[in-house]
Amino acid sequence: MREFDFVVIGSGIAGLTFAIKAARHGRVAIITKRKGVDSNTAWAQGGVACVTSGEDSFELHIRDTLEAGAGLCDPAAVETVVKEGPERIRELMELGLHFDERDVAGHRELDLGREGGHSKRRVLHVHDLTGFEIETTLLRAAQQSPNIELLENHMAVDLITAAKLGFATEDHCLGVYVLDEISGTVETIRTDRLLLATGGCGKVYLYTTNPAIATGDGVAMAWRAGAVIANMEFIQFHPTCLFHPQATSFLISEAVRGEGGILRNGKGEDFVARAHPRGSLAPRDVVARAIDAEMKRSGAQCVYLDITHQTPEFLQERFPHIYETCLRHGIDMAKEPIPVVPAAHYQCGGIKTNMDGATSLPGLSAIGEVACTGLHGANRLASNSLLEGLVIAHRACEALVHSQPPAHPAGSVSLPEWQSGDVQDVDELVVIYHNWDEIRRLMWDYVGIVRTDKRLQRASARLRNLRREIQEFYWNFRITVDLLELRNLATVAALIVDSALSRKESRGLHYTMNYPVMRDDVFRRDTLLSRG
Ligand code: SIN
Repeated sequence: MREFDFVVIGSGIAGLTFAIKAARHGRVAIITKRKGVDSNTAWAQGGVACVTSGEDSFELHIRDTLEAGAGLCDPAAVETVVKEGPERIRELMELGLHFDERDVAGHRELDLGREGGHSKRRVLHVHDLTGFEIETTLLRAAQQSPNIELLENHMAVDLITAAKLGFATEDHCLGVYVLDEISGTVETIRTDRLLLATGGCGKVYLYTTNPAIATGDGVAMAWRAGAVIANMEFIQFHPTCLFHPQATSFLISEAVRGEGGILRNGKGEDFVARAHPRGSLAPRDVVARAIDAEMKRSGAQCVYLDITHQTPEFLQERFPHIYETCLRHGIDMAKEPIPVVPAAHYQCGGIKTNMDGATSLPGLSAIGEVACTGLHGANRLASNSLLEGLVIAHRACEALVHSQPPAHPAGSVSLPEWQSGDVQDVDELVVIYHNWDEIRRLMWDYVGIVRTDKRLQRASARLRNLRREIQEFYWNFRITVDLLELRNLATVAALIVDSALSRKESRGLHYTMNYPVMRDDVFRRDTLLSRG
């Protein structure tokens, strides 16, 4: 058994930022299931929304965030993230991150991008590789810290809590079981301060802009440990994922629309302009629904993003990654529109936390996409999430470092080792892959951009059976990453469906044909779920 002052699960912007700061106060373990760089953060293209220009203001950024959030943002959370953002950005730049700049009247200024729902240019970026640059900057800093141990190819299995061990104390988190994927053994790690920073759950859907690691592990573990989960019905679909058989999951950044890109149907019509005065730069929920409706109406397999009015030089400089990737797949974005479809992109709900990342379970914190602070409400404003990761990671570290020691520290109790019992290796992997595909397909077909009660009920019934089957595998076979991810995906899928079924209105990202009239004041509240 090992013990650390802080254990962070996940190695994206939130987890790494926290780890770097916490390492000034104690020993930190970062547990990450693939390589350190394998995170949602590394795939973020657009950038970080932050007020840095004299033409912008905190009030405008707050207003845009609240408007996108469709009445469900927590105004205090929005104000905190927006106002504390610039200081956290400054720290990131001190670590060596260089955001793009441009010449203005003989001096250099940050080059600010624009995205949907923003009334001003305020997105700091490094070309179209912002997330990758942030990730590698933070990872380098973490690897240089002697107090941080990075455990790659380690996957958290389950949280260890006082209640699970049958202790007669207030429930709290004591540590975590972790599968070492190389040796196949399960280690017990003890800590009084465990942070989930595992990112989102895009892989629960057939089509997603997320990397393979996004299997909802944090939400699923927190749920099993009894923490409160909020607003899981609000899954954001990004309007523009490249439509190409060899490039599933490749995002075409909203920044392309920010530079004047227009969504068109097969006839070349600007169909989103009919749905919203801001046209292709309307908030994401509106744009994704307009595309969904257009594809259903016309029977087309995709729509097109047209930025051919920009020069090849501009596109190569501003979007080198997108330009190159499209070209590799036979699409010259300077000469022809890019075929795109919506795809699952961001989990706006998650483990309910306060503004310091504290969950309802003492000893457990959650930060980044896995958490629900109230910033995003029913629809996240583009590029607000990297900022949230920075701000809440900082606040979580401050809060934990200055908190009272727990009444029953993990170090004072003996934690049982993982019992694998009399299990065998999974005999037929096809069963796991079949269930995995089935969940993703049913979520796409029944729990997507447009929902109905009937489809949700069908999904719920099917998921009940799948979860029973998966639980049997879990007990009877040796655990593997595939099996753990499948179990987590099934849990998160069920949480999304249950949350969606309980919201009898359309709001933000949750649109149901049974209640098409947007926003009923009775439902102007978070959807909260907890086990039992
Ligand atoms: C994008 O580049 O379009 C993604 C930005 C975001 O989702 O915040």
